[in-house]
Amino acid sequence: MRVQLSEEQQLLRETVRRFADEVVAPKAREIDETGEFPRDFFERAAELGLAGVAVPEELGGSGMDTVSYCLVIEEISRVCATSGVILSVNNSLVCDPILQFGSDEQKERFLRPLASGEKLGCFALTEPGAGSDAAALRTTARRDGSDYVLNGSKVFITNGTHAEIALVFASVDLEARHKGIAAFLVEASSDGYKTGGHEYKLGVNASGTTELFFEEMRVPASQLLGEESDGFKIAMATLDGGRIGISAQAVGIAQGAFEEGMSYAQEREQFGQALSSFQAIQFYLADMSTEIDAGRLLTWKAAWAKENQKRYTLEAAQAKLFTSEMAQRVTSKALQIHGGYGYTKEYNVERYFRDARITEIYEGTSEVQKMVIASAVLER
Ligand code: CAA
Repeated sequence: MRVQLSEEQQLLRETVRRFADEVVAPKAREIDETGEFPRDFFERAAELGLAGVAVPEELGGSGMDTVSYCLVIEEISRVCATSGVILSVNNSLVCDPILQFGSDEQKERFLRPLASGEKLGCFALTEPGAGSDAAALRTTARRDGSDYVLNGSKVFITNGTHAEIALVFASVDLEARHKGIAAFLVEASSDGYKTGGHEYKLGVNASGTTELFFEEMRVPASQLLGEESDGFKIAMATLDGGRIGISAQAVGIAQGAFEEGMSYAQEREQFGQALSSFQAIQFYLADMSTEIDAGRLLTWKAAWAKENQKRYTLEAAQAKLFTSEMAQRVTSKALQIHGGYGYTKEYNVERYFRDARITEIYEGTSEVQKMVIASAVLER
């Protein structure tokens, strides 16, 4: 087995790193402070083909593989985790399920503008009473002639304040729990579709997190994704891919914090020498770099499995569990290296520390990943 990036992948990584350093990094602190959604970032990223990295070129995407997608999310998150998750949701949670489950007409109408970045997507599953227990959602979809009529609300929807297209999960039969859930492609301009206010958060503050409200919202049956009873499985299969994106995001956050910690350790002097000459600090850096590499390899393994296997639920959950917890440890050590300065807003490291925390929560908490992993290993 060879663990080596191809020439195309290396070139992609260099290109995205340059874009991240020159265009994304200078805005990262400001958007964290203001919470202003960086729509211009999404547009610039789309010009580079990053809105639909793994969508075939004939459908408006860049036609690359899942490891390439991980490289993109890692490099962007290395400088700005907010920008990383905006791209990850559009790619993994909206483009990918349309590519996998959509009709030709849906691909043309919804996927093409999302993959080219002309439109932005969001994934509307979570509700006030349905977080980890996604099958407990209460948004309903009532069939009425050639339409469905949706009523209900969603919370914590990344990209929600600015998305033009939402993938919405709603129940056609609440009693049937997960078997009653259907998935719909919805235009945000539909009558009865409303967004809430900006949700201020601990980290990834400018990712457009908001509530969505649906009131007697008519959605043509032609916008049903897959079969009526497929919704929950579409959500779960989509999240398998999404979790690979979040793993790449966690690796990127950890890598960014590591680089900040290493350069500070080389510059800062105490007791007459650079911090990096103390063995305690050297051991921190050794642990951090080892853990980042382990997380990156688990992420690439899951990405490889997505390219080559029918089901990669286990690999994605393992990567997400490890990398998100690794990112807590690495960002915490990077902050510790900075001492009192690390606790101030003068340095970026406190932002990395805050941003890392969400990777243990969204797209399935660490506890959910352990449920998924345990059930997969017990079945083997
Ligand atoms: N792929 C395909 N099908 C799957 C699947 C998968 N990965 N996982 C489960 N299924 C199928 C099962 O086979 C089962 O099918 P049958 O009815 O045919 O038997 C069905 O789905 C129900 O499965 P479970 O009984 O395992 O379902 P459950 O209700 O016990 O839930 C869970 C399992 C893993 C806890 C799931 O609810 C879950 O993943 N919860 C977390 C939700 C989550 O990640 N939310 C993230 C929101 S989006 C977000 O965070 C985006 C963002 O902000 C950036």
